[in-house]
Amino acid sequence: MKKTILDIPVLKNKTVFLTVDFNISLHNGKIANDTRIREVLPTINYLLKKGAKLVIASHLGRPDGYDLQYSLRPVAEHLQKMVSQKVFIVDKYWFPEINQEVSQKAKQGIVLLENIRFTENERKNDNNFSKHLSCMADYFVNDAFGASHRVHASIVGIAQYLPSYAGLLLDREIRMLDKSLFNPQKPFVVVIGGAKTPEKISVIEKLLDIAGTVILGGAIANTFLAAWGFGMGKSIIDYEMIEMAKVVFWKTSRRHSALILPHDVIITTDSNQKKLITVDYNKVPSNASIYDIGPETRKYYGQLMEKAKTIIWNGPMGLFEDERFKAGTESVLKSIAGSKAFSIVGGGDTLTSIKNKDYLKKITHISTGGSAMLEYLKKGTLPGIEVLIDA
Ligand code: 3PG
Repeated sequence: MKKTILDIPVLKNKTVFLTVDFNISLHNGKIANDTRIREVLPTINYLLKKGAKLVIASHLGRPDGYDLQYSLRPVAEHLQKMVSQKVFIVDKYWFPEINQEVSQKAKQGIVLLENIRFTENERKNDNNFSKHLSCMADYFVNDAFGASHRVHASIVGIAQYLPSYAGLLLDREIRMLDKSLFNPQKPFVVVIGGAKTPEKISVIEKLLDIAGTVILGGAIANTFLAAWGFGMGKSIIDYEMIEMAKVVFWKTSRRHSALILPHDVIITTDSNQKKLITVDYNKVPSNASIYDIGPETRKYYGQLMEKAKTIIWNGPMGLFEDERFKAGTESVLKSIAGSKAFSIVGGGDTLTSIKNKDYLKKITHISTGGSAMLEYLKKGTLPGIEVLIDA
């Protein structure tokens, strides 16, 4: 385990450089889901209560250089409504002279540095940049679980220059994921959907070692069905991952675990985009695209989850943003919310897909990480955790 902010001996009048993951979807400049902000509030409030000054860093999206389309200003406004302090955005934070402004503003409220990816030095984990960031504070705190798989300056590099601790969110994420990694209650079911097939495929391999059943949906399932030799029409497929998917099939056949793919799917065809048709996985016409899992699949996946004692879910089952194709994703959510299993749900799209707040309450742990969560399950640690002080 790692030391947390509760272990920092003196916080009064000290400045903390706090890295968070405020990478949230914005629709017309408005925040679509503020879970990632709300989840960091216990850390922010604790540090403020103890008399610390705060300099916060986060990325938003993947900007190519300085691009105000990816500005953190809407996030700063939202955060200010949730805390008792003024939140100042500090732009062009990479200039050495900025430290004076940072320290002035930190006396009057919380400093939020503009999108930390506005300089390429962040992604390069540049040493001078890491050192520059460290000069703004006395301690470094990482509460950016969702970005802790990235070897970036504000996550990894800065830790070599400051005493470095875990925030309360990061600490909770680690504890919860460890529960499912070490001695999980069985049956253990993992549900993986969405796209990002290259990131997820190697995790599936590892998950087959720890979970008895791995269920697939969404674009990643299409890639596996294609690897099995079935025509997927015009559905989204990651062709570069087909060989890898075959390797996973081969490995699965040598284990006592099951990789479950959809039996039926919802498609529309070129000629009739409006008409939804349910077909078996092996009968997808060449002019059709798959948009969701079908009713038989939903029922079967539900039965598997009903028996489970541990469930992990990442990634939607279809194009849930379109009302017509949200049933598969909703049925997974309903099954998890209705089960008594220890459950963890994570990932940006997955969280956005959960509109019903009552369901959220029934999930044991809502992880703020998508790829980070999967990466943690694969390796049992992340680069942004490794660099923190051991407890
Ligand atoms: C995420 O949303 O998965 C994290 O914020 C990491 O974002 P990234 O994939 O752009 O590094």
